[in-house]
Amino acid sequence: MKAPICLVENRKEQLAVNPEAIQILDKISQPLVVVVIVGLYRTGKSYLMNRLAGQNHGFPLGSTVQSETKGIWMWCVPHPTNPNYTLVLLDTEGLGDVEKGDPKNDSWIFALAVLLSSTFVYNSIGTINHQALEQLHYVTELTQRIRAKSSPSHDEAGDSSEFVSFFPNFVWTVRDFTLELKLDGRPITEDEYLENALKLIPGKNPGVQNANLTRECIRYFFPERKCFVFDRPTSDKNLLAQIEKVPENQLEWDFQVKSKKFCSYIFTNAKIKTLRGGIAVTGNRLGSLVKTYVDAINSGAVPCLENAVMTLAQRENSAAVQKAADHYSKLMVQRMNLPTDTLQELLDVHRACEKEAIAVFMEHSFKDDEREFQKSLVVTIETRKNDFLLQNEKASITRCQAELQKLSGPLMESISRGAFSVPGGHSLYLEAKKKVEQSYEWVPRKGVKANDVLQSFLQSQAALELSILQSDKALTDSQRAIAAERTKKETAEKEQELLREKQKEQQQMMEAQERSFRENIAQLQEKMERERAMLLREQEKMLEHKLKVQEEFLIEGFRKKSEALMDQISQLREEMERTRKSPSLFSHVFDTLGNVFIAGVPGVGKIFGAGMKLLGSLTK
Ligand SMILES: *[C@@H]1O[C@H](CO)[C@@H](O)[C@H](O)[C@H]1NC(C)=O
Ligand SMILES: *[C@@H]1O[C@H](CO)[C@@H](O)[C@H](O)[C@H]1NC(C)=O
Ligand SMILES: *[C@@H]1O[C@H](CO)[C@@H](O)[C@H](O)[C@H]1NC(C)=O
Repeated sequence: MKAPICLVENRKEQLAVNPEAIQILDKISQPLVVVVIVGLYRTGKSYLMNRLAGQNHGFPLGSTVQSETKGIWMWCVPHPTNPNYTLVLLDTEGLGDVEKGDPKNDSWIFALAVLLSSTFVYNSIGTINHQALEQLHYVTELTQRIRAKSSPSHDEAGDSSEFVSFFPNFVWTVRDFTLELKLDGRPITEDEYLENALKLIPGKNPGVQNANLTRECIRYFFPERKCFVFDRPTSDKNLLAQIEKVPENQLEWDFQVKSKKFCSYIFTNAKIKTLRGGIAVTGNRLGSLVKTYVDAINSGAVPCLENAVMTLAQRENSAAVQKAADHYSKLMVQRMNLPTDTLQELLDVHRACEKEAIAVFMEHSFKDDEREFQKSLVVTIETRKNDFLLQNEKASITRCQAELQKLSGPLMESISRGAFSVPGGHSLYLEAKKKVEQSYEWVPRKGVKANDVLQSFLQSQAALELSILQSDKALTDSQRAIAAERTKKETAEKEQELLREKQKEQQQMMEAQERSFRENIAQLQEKMERERAMLLREQEKMLEHKLKVQEEFLIEGFRKKSEALMDQISQLREEMERTRKSPSLFSHVFDTLGNVFIAGVPGVGKIFGAGMKLLGSLTK
């Protein structure tokens, strides 16, 4: 992208998503590092944006098209230090600017900026004082603007206590900072400066009450904070007026150094945007999130992270099923050599291909809590497997029929020549027939239908054989009867054998389905274990943060505040205990599945039904 483009327009009536911007995002399949800069107009936000994009121009300053349009502007550039990521820069234009329209909607823009970014930069001028904090009052409204969970049972406080697990890192950039970084005469770091400014003010002073609340919210919601203070870029008023066009090397040395430090911090520390559960946000996912959130806001609802993730999952999980099923078909075609010698040979290939296909599904799906999509994958693969089985049978039939026709050629010719219509013709015929059967047996890779085809051939010969027998003048009546009996017995034996073969195949099919469900459950189990570990890590981070805030409040002398957090902390601890203890499905599931088979269900269909039911019952 050469220049930024509007992503969400803050119109008078409502918020509007720019479809052009969504199209750009849709084409980005890389994970994103999303940096948003928020702050008042004419505070030098654009300069930082341009530096991050590695350019002097881009987000323009002053009276341009961009500043005419309130909303969120977007600029996607390659990540300067990691080729695997795309850097998305977002700028909130006109926030808090009353002249540019209803400020009532500004808090929605602010909430969106928080929801969409992985690093949140707040840019202000001068010092971090009450006034600067009051301009950031939007954070105090976040509990009314954002929901973590969709379930209504969650109260506001409980819900907002989850924010830390998906909120961005917080960076405060202070511009035109002319003071010395000192506290009580002692030099302090920029971060210490910020932390000190975020300390609650004791007493009751209505004048600073709002700023006080802002402080509290920042400390609650943004566990990772960082501060950069910048000198004036130049003392030359003429240069200042058109700073966008001034070459970097004409700016104050200190300012240049600080800009570089800021950019380098962002490039190395800004994480990729993830949703709860560690789901990496790619370009197309961000596009979908923007639409989901803005739709919710415009319909009068509060954007909810959990719902947004569900919407994403719905869309992506069906694609994951498709991808996995296609992968299965591709592998099968590559690895199968039709007709396969035996049914088991095909089932073994199927097993290996299915295993890989399930892995593809696991990689690309998420939040399939009802196993709806996994079940759909099971059905799709089952259908495709059956297609391959049919193809295999057809290939076998074609091959066997061709072979048999070739091998039985001399026999047929003898028949039409009348070679067996002589005394002793029957035994000649039997010999010739046996020869055909023997050479047929030596033919390699006849496939699963070898015996069926032979059997139908023999059946087609039965009437002829009988008439040869009956017209054979070399035989007595009783010899004829014995020969007819023998043929009947042989035929019956062959039919028995065919039946046994069919039963064996049925058994193999059932075993294949059992293996298939085991594979599905094993891979599901693995994924659930990974998710559990991830959830636990998120909860640990939350706990760590809450304990820290609680301790800080205690040290600063706000005992009540500190105690209020205790409730949240003990709730979180209970939740973590539940996460840790949630029983491993593995043994339970395998027992159940095992029982299905021990019960000796006849027929493949029932196993399929039982397996599907089992999959459906596996919830978190
Ligand atoms: C934006 O503000 C206007 C005017 O107050 C209001 O009618 C509209 O509903 C607001 N939009 C949102 C998304 O809150
Ligand atoms: C980018 O991805 C490749 C392949 O996954 C990996 O080997 C490489 O280390 C990654 N590069 C960076 C800078 O993370
Ligand atoms: C700041 O917040 C703390 C904690 O809520 C409260 O005890 C204190 O009175 C507040 N200070 C002012 C000036 O409102």
